[in-house]
Amino acid sequence: WGPLGHSVVAELAQRHLSPAAEAEVERLLAPEHTGSLADVANWADQMQNDPAMASLWKQTRSQHYINFHGGPSCDYVPPRDCRDGRCVVAALQYYVGVLGDRSKPDAARRQALKFVVHFAGDIHQPLHAGYRDDKGGNTYQVQFDGKGSNLHRVWDSGMLYTRGLDWQQYAQRLDSAVPVPLPAPVAPLDNPYAQWAEESCRITAETGLYPTGHKIAPAYVTTWLPVADRRLREAGRRLAQVLNLALAPAAAPQ
Ligand code: ADE
Ligand code: ZN
Ligand code: ZN
Repeated sequence: WGPLGHSVVAELAQRHLSPAAEAEVERLLAPEHTGSLADVANWADQMQNDPAMASLWKQTRSQHYINFHGGPSCDYVPPRDCRDGRCVVAALQYYVGVLGDRSKPDAARRQALKFVVHFAGDIHQPLHAGYRDDKGGNTYQVQFDGKGSNLHRVWDSGMLYTRGLDWQQYAQRLDSAVPVPLPAPVAPLDNPYAQWAEESCRITAETGLYPTGHKIAPAYVTTWLPVADRRLREAGRRLAQVLNLALAPAAAPQ
């Protein structure tokens, strides 16, 4: 997602944090002079424009997405789809582990938190987990609003901005909408991130997601913006679940 999508996901999660998780988020983010997940949700992308962060950007850029290689079935096969752990599924698993490890320095856990907030959003953007050989739609050119664009950008930001809402308004709108049942939470010990990526991939395989004639007509937005909204909501609620688990108070000594 672009800045709007990531801020919306973070704000939705913030609204569903447990008191213990919220307190730990506030403590970890204190050096950044914020307690708000939305304020740090875009850091993982912003380092792209900071020469001082060039090395970290280079090491982490492949952690924003996964490209499935099994065709439209979208089954996750790690050695094929996430070679050397360089994909968003493995990245989320890794950073959630660092975040939940209280023996790690706060600085490492703070950085892990910022990555988790960002990647939980990206993994729910369908085209961050596609199966076609088009860099998640980045090389699929489209006409949108009378201008040249590509399908990835339309999903990252173009469609979301057609609502004309800022991130707080957008989050409010999604959070007060009629509750949609979330897919059942997976068992805590499973790797839920593979499931989230597979869901994204299966959305990219649905008929019509790749628009006929490479043209994004108003009917495309009518059909697919609600799907983008659903993914933002799922991302926000699941991010809250992950943070509430990882940042639960340490078990009381027996
Ligand atoms: N670069 C290559 N594949 C990508 C994807 N699926 N999403 C974003 N950037 C990418
Ligand atoms: Zn993107
Ligand atoms: Zn990203």
